[in-house]
Amino acid sequence: MRDMVETGSGLPVRIRLHRAPLGLFDTLRAARRNILEIIPELAVRQPMITARTATRWHMVMHPRALRRVLRDNWENYPRSVVTKRILEPGVGHSLFLAEGAEWRWQRRTAAPIFSHRNLVALAPVMQQAARHAAARIARGAGEVVDLYEEMVAVTFEIICAVTLAGGGSFDRGVVHRAINAYIESVGRVSILDLFGAPAWVPRPETLLSPRPARRLHRVADRVVRERMGRANPDPDLLDHLIRATDPETGRRMSPLELRDNLLAFIVAGHETTALALAWSLYLLAFDPAAQDRARAEVAAALGRAELAGPEHLDALPYTRAVIEEAMRLYPPAAFLARTAQAPDRLCGRVIHPGDTVMLPIYALHRHRMWWEEPDAFRPERFLDRRPERFTWLPFGDGPRICIGAGFAMMEAQIVLATLLRRFRFADAGHVPRPRQLITLRPEGGVRLRVLPG
Ligand code: HEM
Repeated sequence: MRDMVETGSGLPVRIRLHRAPLGLFDTLRAARRNILEIIPELAVRQPMITARTATRWHMVMHPRALRRVLRDNWENYPRSVVTKRILEPGVGHSLFLAEGAEWRWQRRTAAPIFSHRNLVALAPVMQQAARHAAARIARGAGEVVDLYEEMVAVTFEIICAVTLAGGGSFDRGVVHRAINAYIESVGRVSILDLFGAPAWVPRPETLLSPRPARRLHRVADRVVRERMGRANPDPDLLDHLIRATDPETGRRMSPLELRDNLLAFIVAGHETTALALAWSLYLLAFDPAAQDRARAEVAAALGRAELAGPEHLDALPYTRAVIEEAMRLYPPAAFLARTAQAPDRLCGRVIHPGDTVMLPIYALHRHRMWWEEPDAFRPERFLDRRPERFTWLPFGDGPRICIGAGFAMMEAQIVLATLLRRFRFADAGHVPRPRQLITLRPEGGVRLRVLPG
């Protein structure tokens, strides 16, 4: 079998996009392994691709068309039927899956929770977790450490601390295992359905088992119940959510809505940020000069401080650009899908109701028409001037843009700067393989040699 990952030519690892069209079965086989393998090479050259594999589908890479899907005509393009069917058992009553008036009130109610003021108040939790991560990593000094695993641990600690901390007795390991089982199950199923694979194509057993979602619900129900009964003097995200009222109607979230939103924050919020960090570290080890520049910036900004905090972020533009460039090359949410509701036109092509509209963010971010040296790691491109709107969409855009983007960026900068303050990360000859399973993971981990900074 052809290796689907390319290295060399002075470029960081990338997917080898296929040049010959794939038939239904090749598509399904490839997609089961790695959904990015279904992206044709044409997708980084053409503004849009339309085809039929069981159902009619389009891949949209043109900024104007993306703007139409995500912003100007966004209500015509809700999350794909498949995405909904898969995620519903886990987070069906959350803002992530709601539509129409239901979504509008939930979003209105939840948005203030992520205000800058609230985020700054949560920064000490991020700093504390960054300190723990640095202490763990220090124990592996001189050795090869899987930084992906470490980044999942640090972001999980943060999301738990800001959602479950006041929840009394719960076992973090149980939550983590339940979430992983849930992501694994939904990841495998989604790929099969995206192209309308016939019902007789065998589905993994997990589809038939509601167990992962049920286990998650049990833990989260308990946390919500316990927390609703008391006022927390130091409110975290969950406390804010419990107290939040719709500014227009005064409505509050029911225990069911609270539970599913809590889970949506945990599921949508921790692995994505861990990936942004893990890929950043891979890229910095790949490009030692960029790492030196980031470390020098951190040293100048932090002075004698050991931990980065919100007060340092304005003085860390290059470090921020590293994270932004890492999310360009390896967008944590690399592939979004929508189902068209009413007829429309994108790039002059007719869209029929029921068509699947795919937004292959991975291809958009490496598109030959929108980016110079698209496969190269060049954080400076985010310094000179911001990329054109709708060519860089790690958080989506429009009304349904990621609600946690500010939270994630603050967290990522605090953790990355704290680690660069203390360590140097060197290539140890392991190349992570980009593999999309809901999120774009580095298969094999990000195994780097850790040295004193
Ligand atoms: C680097 C980290 C993150 C990335 C790359 C990311 C990416 C995204 C993307 C692309 C979407 C839009 C999906 C679509 O339009 O189909 C989204 C939505 C969402 N994200 Fe994030 N996310 C991140 C972190 C977070 C965090 C930290 C939280 C919460 C604490 C969060 C919660 C959500 C929620 C609730 C939505 C749904 C919003 C809505 O539909 O109104 N995300 N995220």
